[in-house]
Parts: sequence; structure tokens; C-alpha cells
Amino acid sequence: MRVLVLNGPNLGRLGSREPLVYGDTTYDELVALCRAANPEADVRQTDDEATMIGWLHEAADSGAPVVLNAAAWSHYSIALRDACSQLTGPLVEVHISQTAAREDFRHASVVSAVATGTITGLGVDGYRLALDWLGRL
Ligand code: DQA
Repeated sequence: MRVLVLNGPNLGRLGSREPLVYGDTTYDELVALCRAANPEADVRQTDDEATMIGWLHEAADSGAPVVLNAAAWSHYSIALRDACSQLTGPLVEVHISQTAAREDFRHASVVSAVATGTITGLGVDGYRLALDWLGRL
């Protein structure tokens, strides 16, 4: 089963970005981890919101399951949420850090209400867990 694993802004800098918060796994290592969990995983990252919305439209049209870490967009992008609402397959929202234990502005996600489920605070293992779960559907 082809699964889209979509990553939003600044996640391409994993490994060097605030390692105390996000760990020291690099983005390339995250891609490898996802492919090990599901060789069909199509792992992408963008800092451009329009590109992300285009990928979500692609998933809506194909019915592909999506694992989404929308990063900062999770907290304010209604356009992103509206794109997620159109998905026809399952959507697992992932956050590496425990957003509920961080700044107030990270506590709410506009994605959560339209996600099938959310995995937060389990580091990059959250991606593996999401892909394992999708693989059992
Ligand atoms: C994040 C949490 C967000 O608040 C933040 O803006 C990110 C990453 C996470 O994976 O923990 O960029 O989504």
C-alpha cells in the first residue's frame, strides 16, 4: 500500500534543529526509518504551504493514506485543515515533540479534528507507529 508521509516547514532540518526538542535523527534518517517500516512509503518535506496543499489534493484524489506532520501549520492553517478534510483515506497526524507540554500556541492543532488519529511526543518513533497502524488496516 502506497502511503504519503508529508512533512511541513523546518522538518528538513531535523538533526540540527533544536536537538533537545526534536532529537538528533536527521531528516534523511527519518526517510530511511519510514521506508523500513513501509517500503511503499513516499516521504516528502516542504517549506511551501501551496506545495503541501497540492500533495494533500493528490492524496484526496488517489485515496492514499497519509501520515502528516504539518509542523507549525498545524497550529493555524485553515487552508491546510480544509485540504485534510478532503482526504478520502485515513489520516494520522504526527508530532515528534509533546506539543501539549510546550508553549500555549502549540496546544491546539487545526488538523486533529479531521485526523483519524494523532501520535504526539513519541519522537520519530511516532512515524513508525503510524505506518505500522496503517499497515494493519
Ligand atoms: C512539531 C511541533 C510543532 O509545534 C512545530 O512547529 C514543529 C514540529 C513536532 O513534530 O513536534 O515544527 O510538529
